Amino acid sequence: MTNAQKWVLLFFALFIVFLVITYMSNKEEETYSKNYNQENATSAQDSETGLSIYKSAGCASCHGEQLAGTDDGPALFKLSEKWSKKELINFLRNPNDFSKDDRIAKYKEKFGNSFMPSFNTIDAKKLGKLAEYLLSK
Ligand code: HEC
Repeated sequence: MTNAQKWVLLFFALFIVFLVITYMSNKEEETYSKNYNQENATSAQDSETGLSIYKSAGCASCHGEQLAGTDDGPALFKLSEKWSKKELINFLRNPNDFSKDDRIAKYKEKFGNSFMPSFNTIDAKKLGKLAEYLLSK
């Protein structure tokens, strides 16, 4: 091997080492940012509870912070004795479908100035959480 060939070999070896190092540090950054994003995504979803949806959707203004009812809406206690989860979600989406139900018709007399709005713009997953929350009270 001539001297020139040795230099070329050494240079080449250094170049490979350099490539390996950059590759490895990129990888680390990638996994870090992936983990970071995943953590953020799950915490954003989990931070929404049935209670926070109840408050942000404005239910409390008629049904009260503690679900005890107001002059504009009935108390929401023991709903699990009255509704299945599926029915309750349907009711929240479209309360008018239930206006012939005796119990709801009585509410209509009692809360004449107020009515239950339809919440068909809240997505299904949120309505599910909200319904579960209400049925657990
Ligand atoms: C503007 C006032 C108002 C708002 C806001 C409101 N409701 Fe109502 N809600 C009523 C009234 C009045 C009734 C009685 C039935 C009717 O009039 O249709 C009712 C009935 C209900 C019932 C049936 C109660 C029973 O005994 O079966 C449930 C459940 C309910 N509301 C949940 C909610 C939830 C959850 C929200 C928020 C997403 C909400 N309501 C927002 C006024 C309101």
